[in-house]
Amino acid sequence: MELTTVLFVCLGNICRSPMAEVIFGKIVERENALLHFEIDSAGLLSYHEGELPDSRMRFHASKRAYHLVHRSRPVKMSDFDRFDMIVGMDDDNIAGLKKMASTKEHEQKIYRMTDFCRIHQATSVPDPYYGGDNGFENVIDLLEDACEGLFMALKAKK
Ligand code: 4NP
Repeated sequence: MELTTVLFVCLGNICRSPMAEVIFGKIVERENALLHFEIDSAGLLSYHEGELPDSRMRFHASKRAYHLVHRSRPVKMSDFDRFDMIVGMDDDNIAGLKKMASTKEHEQKIYRMTDFCRIHQATSVPDPYYGGDNGFENVIDLLEDACEGLFMALKAKK
């Protein structure tokens, strides 16, 4: 198995994408594949740079035994060279990433998280920032489904 590098991207990098990073990492660990993956997350905004994930996201994560320690950072141009896959959470994220992509090769690295869902029929992982508890639980439900699907898709390719 060769190395696959995956960057999860959302707007603030304090809710959805750090959650995706941890969920995908746990699956990779469970499957004894840690040596074959490099996983990170980033945001299209730099407003929260250096911050831990939102306390509401950390609370809902902890109820399912996920521990979030990532520090928010903005997406960089060099990420388009460094990562094999850049996975956005919603239409705005995908549009923002496409704007940043400077070559066809870079653009082809952009994926939509919900395209890997196998159970849920969703077209985005909705931004939970201005909503209530349900929004955060929904983020975890969608990401657990999509991350399992992403791992299966990559395993099938290797
Ligand atoms: P995220 O959620 O993109 O899932 O990290 C958000 C976090 C912060 C903001 C928006 C969305 N914000 O506007 O500050």
